Amino acid sequence: MGRADAGVDRVLLSEERIRERVRELGKEIAADYEGKPLLVVGILKGSAVFLADLIRAIDLPLDYDFVAISSYGADTRSSGVVRLLKDLDVSVKGRDVLIVEDIVDTGWTLRLSYLAENMRARGCRSVKVCTLLDKPSRRKIDVGIDYCGFVVEDYFVVGYGLDYDGLYRNLAYIGVIDPNKCRSG
Ligand code: IMP
Ligand code: MG
Repeated sequence: MGRADAGVDRVLLSEERIRERVRELGKEIAADYEGKPLLVVGILKGSAVFLADLIRAIDLPLDYDFVAISSYGADTRSSGVVRLLKDLDVSVKGRDVLIVEDIVDTGWTLRLSYLAENMRARGCRSVKVCTLLDKPSRRKIDVGIDYCGFVVEDYFVVGYGLDYDGLYRNLAYIGVIDPNKCRSG
């Protein structure tokens, strides 16, 4: 059996850098939402590791939940359909919702899921988006990002929840993967 980091080229963001930045984000979010009923909504599965650390850096009463969205294939992208595979278990009515993503790349997932619109239609008080990583060079469609951990260049990154073909989510850092192994981007 190989190791968890087999095939990773180099470390892009160390465990320490991530920890520091997540702490800063938590403070910023706590200051912005003071006195509000915050509901943190993670998009499965990539955001789970980030969300787990982020909520512990937000010193406010809050709850969290997850949604799952179908990842698009080539045909889905052109048909413009992204399905909600798992909905929230809790009500968003009257609550301030913070959507948490691992990475915003083309923007299609956030845009085509209509997640923010969906939350508003259900009577939430506000919706904001927090992403650990932003890859703006690959953006195809504009999506509003309210909190961003790091802006990254156009590398395929793995670790800290992000996967390549179901692997590497358990790395404590964010690494760049060997491009020869990853042609689909
Ligand atoms: P978008 O719909 O193109 O913005 O892509 C968002 C989703 O694609 C993310 O939630 C990830 O699951 C995946 N993704 C995009 N870029 C990367 C990457 O560099 N590493 C791992 N997953 C990625
Ligand atoms: Mg994802």
